[in-house]
Amino acid sequence: MNRIGRPLVAILAVVMLNAAAGSAGGDRPRINLNNILNPFHTEIFQSEDPELWVYGGAGAGKSYSIADKILLKSILNPGRQKGVIVRKTLASLRKTTLDILERRAEALGLNLFIDRQNWIARVGNLSIILTGMNNKDDHLKIKSLTDVDFVWANELTELREDDYRELLLRIRGGETKLGRQMIADFNPIGKTSWIYDRGWARGLDRTARKLRYTVLDNPWAQKEYVEHLKSTASDDPNFYKIYFLGEWGELKGIIFNWDVVDELPAIGFDEIIFAGDFGYSVDPAAVVRIYRRADEYWIEELVYTTGLTNRDLARAAIAAGVPASSENFWDSAEPKSIEELRLDGLRGAKPATKGPGSVKFGIDFLLSKKIHMLGNSPNLIKEVRSYVRKKDRDGKSLPEPMEYNDHAIKAATYGIVSAAHRGGQAFVGQSGGEVY
Ligand SMILES: Nc1ncnc2c1ncn2[C@@H]1O[C@H](COP(=O)(O)OP(=O)(O)OP(=O)(O)O)[C@@H](O)[C@H]1O
Ligand SMILES: [Mg+2]
Repeated sequence: MNRIGRPLVAILAVVMLNAAAGSAGGDRPRINLNNILNPFHTEIFQSEDPELWVYGGAGAGKSYSIADKILLKSILNPGRQKGVIVRKTLASLRKTTLDILERRAEALGLNLFIDRQNWIARVGNLSIILTGMNNKDDHLKIKSLTDVDFVWANELTELREDDYRELLLRIRGGETKLGRQMIADFNPIGKTSWIYDRGWARGLDRTARKLRYTVLDNPWAQKEYVEHLKSTASDDPNFYKIYFLGEWGELKGIIFNWDVVDELPAIGFDEIIFAGDFGYSVDPAAVVRIYRRADEYWIEELVYTTGLTNRDLARAAIAAGVPASSENFWDSAEPKSIEELRLDGLRGAKPATKGPGSVKFGIDFLLSKKIHMLGNSPNLIKEVRSYVRKKDRDGKSLPEPMEYNDHAIKAATYGIVSAAHRGGQAFVGQSGGEVY
């Protein structure tokens, strides 16, 4: 992409660094922004376009750089400013976007204060309203906003075009001021999306500045991650196009079309199941809670984090609501890790039951059930929306899935299959009708 941008960003960073030092009152440690800001994202930092769309492949550093751009406003711009950060649901935003904002404030040495009653983040002279755009209350809140200086719509593909128009009105509705900006980021998934229509097909293409990035523009991306993403080319060219090349594509052969519900229904459940999938450096560890009533299931993501040791994972699972002594199911191929979880307090950890021909079996088993996802499960939802079957050379779907972003899905599979087996549901094997 913009690799010649390095000297530019260095100049920009020095300016910012001086400004930061100037406003810091002297005794704060100096931070070298050259080590913190993404050198390939100069155009993101410099853009003053009224609408800025940052799109492209997975792990490109889009969200981190947008968070940096917003936080730097608190240093660079004098005067009070008001912004909005929005994602489809506030619950998703709290688990993902807000987490990024907090990490970046820390990296930039800025004090970020979060009012968790009203969901407002404050840093310097900047107030940032954090909101979903999902229900009546969210919409009322957004309609009441005036004089907004900027909006960051994270994962724009989750919003509707009406939502986007409404957000634009919040920015333009007030007095005209320089520097007002709508920023959005997304993966170019699905040419049927309104975003493709608005930004590329319908001739409105000149309204938004569009910047495309890929994982190759992210100097912090881990090598294994890049290789894994690259290797998807042989399994599914469309997946590769979207998530590695960051170009518009249409995913084919999506396995689960589970819907998203905001809340659990007010019914009695037959059981609540807990399960997890191990992960560490590149792959996150995932823990889910599953509510079952007869053959219907509701899945909720509890933990989805990289870098946790088994001890931290046991603690995170308990803190997120897994009762330490309730049974919880994990990959049976990792008995040592399961034992560590047990020793570290998650006493109910046990190996999952795998059906015959396990991965394909798990998929077929889940396909035979009615399954919903809770709206506060952003990573699970993102996984499910891009969970596709591998393709053969002619582009026809094969039975097995692409093994890419499937961590929360695996956790859910362990939970649902193991609980069903424990509950006495007979598993009929794929070959020869063996009862498992
Ligand atoms: N400026 C940075 N400093 C340190 N690490 C970074 C920086 N930018 C990105 N990263 C690393 O790269 C990862 C991916 O970045 P980010 O989440 O911003 O990507 P993205 O393009 O928004 O991906 P997605 O399309 O999946 O949302 C981060 O989790 C972080 O580990
Ligand atoms: Mg992102």
